[in-house]
Amino acid sequence: MSENINKKIPRHLAIILDGNGRWAKKRNLPRLMGHRAGLRKLEEMVRLVKREGIRYFSVYAFSTENWNRPSMEVQGLMSLFRYYIRRKVDEIKSEGARIRFCGRNDKLPEDLLQQMRWAEDYTKDQEILDFILCINYGGRAEILDAINKLRADNFTGEVTEQDLRKYFYLPDVPDPDLIIRTSGELRLSNFWLWECAYSEFYFTDIHWPDFDENELRKALDNYAGRDRRYGGLKNK
Ligand code: FPP
Repeated sequence: MSENINKKIPRHLAIILDGNGRWAKKRNLPRLMGHRAGLRKLEEMVRLVKREGIRYFSVYAFSTENWNRPSMEVQGLMSLFRYYIRRKVDEIKSEGARIRFCGRNDKLPEDLLQQMRWAEDYTKDQEILDFILCINYGGRAEILDAINKLRADNFTGEVTEQDLRKYFYLPDVPDPDLIIRTSGELRLSNFWLWECAYSEFYFTDIHWPDFDENELRKALDNYAGRDRRYGGLKNK
């Protein structure tokens, strides 16, 4: 990859992993094969993202709405998550990456939840990259959960943005600077709803399993050329 010196790189890169199903369909394969190919791509991407010097990398792997998919697909995805944690956590850790999960705990199988907690604990001292897997995540659910936790704490007085943020799933993680969505859809699908207020967006028609180093380079170069003003007049 090209040299990063003097180049604006996102501190937090987020990706909506879309198009596994279409990738599989194009090849006459079952959808689950598309998810497997997507997982292999994700493994490659963690290494590339780390090489780029990105500090936080989050991916939308399963939304609060994805429970509506056929149960065979949901079970298959849960098995992929189990496989990933069991077989890949040592590799992630040796890359200096800390694995974190973001989302609601309800509905997830108990054994998977235990594995998730174990993986978080096992990698918690790694400081090069926070690799955030959003599983059973929904932006609206996150905001509602924060409000309910704040109420349960008997919070009194006017609620500020900072107050609410403290109740989000990962309050220490900075907002995404760049959100990439693969596979052609131009929507956020309930991802990082609050946090995306000033995110930059990048959309590509490439299906997630085909997203590669070259595509990442294009997205990062495009981001590097953006003028972020956060509602102000900076650089004008
Ligand atoms: C969206 O493609 C993708 C998903 C709902 C699942 C993403 C999951 C992976 C890439 C596996 C990740 C594994 C771990 C451990 C995080 P789609 O099925 O909606 O594709 P389509 O829109 O073409 O049908």
